[in-house]
Amino acid sequence: MSADALASEAAAPRHSLARLGRHLHASVLRTCLPVEALRDVLPRGAVAQRELDEAVLAAAVASAAAAGAEAEALNAALDRHHAPALARFARARSGVDLLREWSTAAGSPAMPGAYWALLTHPLADRALRHLAFGDVEMLGHKAPANASLPMLLARRSVSPRRLSGPAPTPEALDLMLQAALAAPDHGRLHPWRVIEFRAEAREALADIFEREKRGRDPMAAANDLRRAREHATRPPCLLAFVVSLRQRKRVPLREQWLAAGAALGNLLNAAHAQGYGAIMLSGDRCFDAEVCADLGLGPHEFLAGFVSIGTITEPAPAVDRPLSQTVWSCWSSPAQGPRSGARPAVWTFTASDKAIG
Ligand SMILES: Cc1cc2nc3c(=O)[nH]c(=O)nc-3n(C[C@H](O)[C@H](O)[C@H](O)COP(=O)(O)O)c2cc1C
Repeated sequence: MSADALASEAAAPRHSLARLGRHLHASVLRTCLPVEALRDVLPRGAVAQRELDEAVLAAAVASAAAAGAEAEALNAALDRHHAPALARFARARSGVDLLREWSTAAGSPAMPGAYWALLTHPLADRALRHLAFGDVEMLGHKAPANASLPMLLARRSVSPRRLSGPAPTPEALDLMLQAALAAPDHGRLHPWRVIEFRAEAREALADIFEREKRGRDPMAAANDLRRAREHATRPPCLLAFVVSLRQRKRVPLREQWLAAGAALGNLLNAAHAQGYGAIMLSGDRCFDAEVCADLGLGPHEFLAGFVSIGTITEPAPAVDRPLSQTVWSCWSSPAQGPRSGARPAVWTFTASDKAIG
């Protein structure tokens, strides 16, 4: 779509409450207006002062569906309550802009305003409304006291193909590292570190990636070599995530690996929480001794992978997460009867799984 077409579409009138699908009325009125505001808007006869909140909400939903003067009054109250969010969303020129605004607000105290602004925005399509509805309905109400939970539950990895600039600001990157340093960490060893590859270092990194690819696959086609180089040059922000194990009697290596993984998780969550897309990718090159040496890794260090971070140009496709029952069980004492469930797994470890470096 041309910029002009986008601009004229953005200038189209916002949707009204009455025009939103009926399934959205209850969701919007419950999420975006306090019940006192609903009471103020509805005529006295519609809800007695002592009526329960649910009855007030039901009356408001009926008014919205009736699309009369009361629906307009509710619409005006929503606009008044959420003027700052409406102003922010009014600057959006594409669905991607809207998604970015929504990702920033989802799970934060700004979510109700963002919900109203997104649903009524002229550029919001069915998919965006559906996404926001899902976030609010499935996550928002269940954890009203914990604004970070919906954000965590909505995290997705975003492929470098779906990322572009701007890269995170130095302040945003610093917050990601602070979040990583806040992860559980036995002995406060922070057995990990990151290496940032700034713009001026990318071609040299691409040379290393290409050399590794040629070494592993001497018949590699030109396209494969180009792709290997792109892994170094494409991400707006690129970090190597290095696991740096320490020799400590009291902190076994497996706990250091877990601490490093927890730090990585926090880093990715903090990127997501600030509205950036991020993904951790490893691949054969992370196991290459020469690559590790070129990046300056020490003998007790592992190149766990590369974290790409940037601005989301296209959201990652929806994904069904496994049910929590898949990872849950409830222990009972063996004395209470025979054990049920799976037999312990038998693992075969390779030398590199066990070795420190
Ligand atoms: C240490 C580590 C290395 C990974 N390496 C790769 C990789 O090389 N290729 C890949 O497709 N996914 C890799 N992943 C998985 C992705 O980062 C991502 O988690 C996965 O695509 C699932 O997406 P989701 O995070 O949105 O659930 C890796 C994950 C971790 C934690």
